[in-house]
Amino acid sequence: MTLKAPVAPSSTVPQHIAIIMDGNGRWARKRGLPRLAGHKAGTENLRRIIKACVEFGIKYLTIYAFSTENWGRPPEEVDGLMRILEDVIEHELKELDRQGVQIHHLGQLDRLSPKLQKGVLEAVEQTRNNDRLVLNVALNYGGRDEIIHAFRQMLADGVKPEEVTVELVGKYLYTVGIPDPDLIIRTSGELRISNFMIWQAAYAEWYVTPTYWPDFGREELRKALDEYASRDRRFGKVDSSEYGEING
Ligand code: IPE
Ligand code: IPE
Ligand code: MG
Repeated sequence: MTLKAPVAPSSTVPQHIAIIMDGNGRWARKRGLPRLAGHKAGTENLRRIIKACVEFGIKYLTIYAFSTENWGRPPEEVDGLMRILEDVIEHELKELDRQGVQIHHLGQLDRLSPKLQKGVLEAVEQTRNNDRLVLNVALNYGGRDEIIHAFRQMLADGVKPEEVTVELVGKYLYTVGIPDPDLIIRTSGELRISNFMIWQAAYAEWYVTPTYWPDFGREELRKALDEYASRDRRFGKVDSSEYGEING
């Protein structure tokens, strides 16, 4: 008997990388600086990583910039972060547009400052025809919030129970039209998902490094890509090289 549905040979370059940009606070503390200095350094690193992704031929990059739980931080940190994000959009949009980056937002806009909401909408609108790299900015994003939002929309649309499939749920998520991440990188060493892409991460490969986000540069990204290339993604199936052993 021959087994059907072998694992499709997957490309060695991930189509979609998602990054939990963690460790800004610890990076700053190590240098005796305020936490906001770490966030500032984090945004500078982001510029480097976006450039490297364009260069390495990555098609989709998702970055976790602010979670639904991050509102629970001290108000000075939240306000400072919002200001940094407003500045990033204001100062980086032109260059991102020039590089051919198409910007998407994942999450809810409503709790953000009016200036930030306006900035995000403008960034999305201005870059909508770019096609070099799709950059998804998870900002006021939570995986559970995303799933609740999807349930509510499905119910409001009168979706019938038997119509609910993996494909349909995907159409109601913030990531509609975007393939699942192939590789999720978490900097600063924590081994947890922290409410990030909990649906989409079902078969992602994980790469965790102790390096704090502001120090995670191009060469570190290259290392993560090399490791990804050596992974054997099976998606619950068996590798075709093992067929002989199964059949005896
Ligand atoms: C990640 O860095 C950035 C955000 C969550 C906004 P942290 O601020 O979580 O840094 P650590 O984890 O405290 O070092
Ligand atoms: C995850 O990091 C959120 C972002 C990177 C935006 P956190 O620092 O908020 O996660 P926990 O609290 O360590 O789980
Ligand atoms: Mg953290």
